[in-house]
Amino acid sequence: MSSKYTHFEQIKFPSTCSIKSLKFCQDEFVVKNDDVIVVTYPKSGTHWVMETLSLIQCKGDSTWVQSTPIWERFPWIEVEHLQHLICTKEENGPRFYTTHLPIQLFPKSYFHSKAKIIYVMRNPRDVVSLCHYSKVLKLFERIDNFCEMLEMFSQGNVPYGSWFDHICGWLSLRENDNFLILTYEELLHDMRRNVDKICHFLGTTLKEEEINFVIKNASFSVMKDNKMSNYSMIPDYIMDHSQGSIIRKGITGDWKNHFIVAQSEAFDSLFQERMTELDQRLFPWDQC
Ligand code: A3P
Repeated sequence: MSSKYTHFEQIKFPSTCSIKSLKFCQDEFVVKNDDVIVVTYPKSGTHWVMETLSLIQCKGDSTWVQSTPIWERFPWIEVEHLQHLICTKEENGPRFYTTHLPIQLFPKSYFHSKAKIIYVMRNPRDVVSLCHYSKVLKLFERIDNFCEMLEMFSQGNVPYGSWFDHICGWLSLRENDNFLILTYEELLHDMRRNVDKICHFLGTTLKEEEINFVIKNASFSVMKDNKMSNYSMIPDYIMDHSQGSIIRKGITGDWKNHFIVAQSEAFDSLFQERMTELDQRLFPWDQC
């Protein structure tokens, strides 16, 4: 069953990551001070934030997002066939990257740099939208049964490992100046405020009109139609487009359509048990 995956350091990864590419990433990739890296656990709003950053970089102008695939704008540092891009990126201006790596496998060079990380989190109950994605992305084992997916997710037996470990690991950097935390729920609740937050973090100032263009061009409906960002160009042997899209519903609380009461209670207990050490205000999804 698990032959679809690359296994490294007790975590399974899609086969687009090899042991060689994971080791390269950790030991050899040199992060530079100007780099900006979007880090997320899968299904947390990665593409939305990449699109937003691309637009902020272009002051709201959509030419770049409409002409260059998102994986070229923000190459995945752990993905083998994209590693030529991460090494040949222009030196001038910030280099943008993205990753789902847990902190212990992240490039070691980052920890001696001033590079900026934007860490995006989402209510883990909605992250279980992984279940839908497993039907679309042929690199993942297809899990049709939600109950089975929830069990695997709770045990961390899914690509990129445990959500809880990912969050606890990365949040250990939360006091650092070069580390910004965003949540999917807050983005949805108040995108304007979050664009301001990102601009401030990057040291960028945009005019009111430019901010409005960023918000409009990164909206769910515009992104869903942007073939440079919606993965519709990915060939059928990698994605089964008849099963859905990575830009799917774009709402919070969809988990309520899938969890039964007993699953919800069990997940709440697991959450409390695994997250006791962290300030619960870090997880604002119940307030949004
Ligand atoms: P759903 O499957 O719950 O709809 P990631 O980019 O990390 O894979 O996250 C995918 C999730 O982000 C999907 O959630 C997708 O619909 C949502 N998403 C993508 N673009 C979005 C946008 N512009 N606005 C709101 N949600 C978006």
